[in-house]
Amino acid sequence: MMMPNIHPTIVHFPIALLIVAFFFDASGALLKKVELTRVGWWCQSVGTVSLLAAVATGLLAKERIVVDSAAMPTLDAHEQIAFLSASAFVVLLFWRVSLKTKIPDRMRFLFWAFYSIGVSAVALGAWYGGEMVFRFGLGVKIFSP
Ligand code: HEM
Repeated sequence: MMMPNIHPTIVHFPIALLIVAFFFDASGALLKKVELTRVGWWCQSVGTVSLLAAVATGLLAKERIVVDSAAMPTLDAHEQIAFLSASAFVVLLFWRVSLKTKIPDRMRFLFWAFYSIGVSAVALGAWYGGEMVFRFGLGVKIFSP
């Protein structure tokens, strides 16, 4: 039996967790609550792992579905943005681990600037993903009544 395509199930985790991480970190810094920044760290680390899982399952999905030529440029953009955003978040993860997970005040602006670029790339890539499914019907089977 063939394994089901779990890419659409996985992708919501990195999108949600990586955005939520930013809000926990920002509110932790503003309110000076270390508990909030800890939640931010966990959301960022689990979000990064799930982003890598989204890339892996995306590559598997691509091998298995029929890609209409009209959808090809969208798939290419989706894939390239996924590689870029995953690389950015791996760098951000190692960066934060090297800081023992706490972002010092003097580095906060730089870290968040880079983080915002990463999150924007994830959102843009996900938008292309939605386009593939809802505009071009990739991975969707339409049954006639
Ligand atoms: C090399 C990496 C990737 C490839 C090759 C890829 C490929 C695909 C393919 C073929 C689809 C069509 C639907 C399907 O069969 O699942 C899709 C949908 C989608 N992908 Fe990716 N993907 C990759 C990475 C990512 C990443 C990192 C994200 C976001 C974190 C993402 C978000 C989405 C979304 C939101 C959809 C639409 C799902 C739906 O609404 O059903 N993909 N992707």
